[in-house]
Amino acid sequence: MTSYRIAPSILSADFARLGEEVSTVIAAGADWIHFDVMDNHYVPNLTVGPMVCQALKPHAKRADGAPVPIDVHLMIQPVDALAGAFIDAGADLVSFHPDASTHVHRSIQAIKARGAQVGLVFNPAEPLDVLDWVIDDIDLILIMSVNPGFGGQGFIDSALRKIEQVRRRIDACGKDIRLEVDGGIKADNIRRVADAGADTFVAGSAIFGKPDYRVVIADMRAALA
Ligand code: DX5
Ligand code: ZN
Repeated sequence: MTSYRIAPSILSADFARLGEEVSTVIAAGADWIHFDVMDNHYVPNLTVGPMVCQALKPHAKRADGAPVPIDVHLMIQPVDALAGAFIDAGADLVSFHPDASTHVHRSIQAIKARGAQVGLVFNPAEPLDVLDWVIDDIDLILIMSVNPGFGGQGFIDSALRKIEQVRRRIDACGKDIRLEVDGGIKADNIRRVADAGADTFVAGSAIFGKPDYRVVIADMRAALA
């Protein structure tokens, strides 16, 4: 049976209370914390750097002390200069956009060598061809179902076809690779996304935009059950 993961994106959290927001959303049932890094160059927005990741790391744990993975989504160009700094700051998974790296294989190896899991992120119009050459080297594939840069956008339906294609590639290679989807995910479409083959779901505005995070996450799990 598929083990689904819900990864709230703190992009839509209250930035004046980020530590508390991370603790609250973990208590509400979050499996991972999704951490969006934007550089005002690769994407038209600017967010947070490794210092904020490091500050949040002590909050990324359950009540019993069990760690909750920090899932860093790099929307930066170049990739290599900062990827290591996020790993030093406590990132458990680091994903980057292959079109933002001149040497994709090198970036993958550099992230793995620093001790983090590595993912590749595909924008809505980005082809999957690079997977022909590196799928055996990665731990996660992240399909963007919005254009990167902002929370609160509508889900782009062609992502479903792309997720189906990625699922076939993962099953064919036989490796345990997470298939994550990011953008416009809500309790009322998460089932369709799972049926296409995704197992890990980023959700920002759907969770942090509501007063009770626990209710939203429970609704998502009920839709997935
Ligand atoms: C967008 C970010 C997303 C964003 C998703 O570039 O990568 O993680 O927070 O936000 P929602 O869930 O509101 O579409
Ligand atoms: Zn993201």
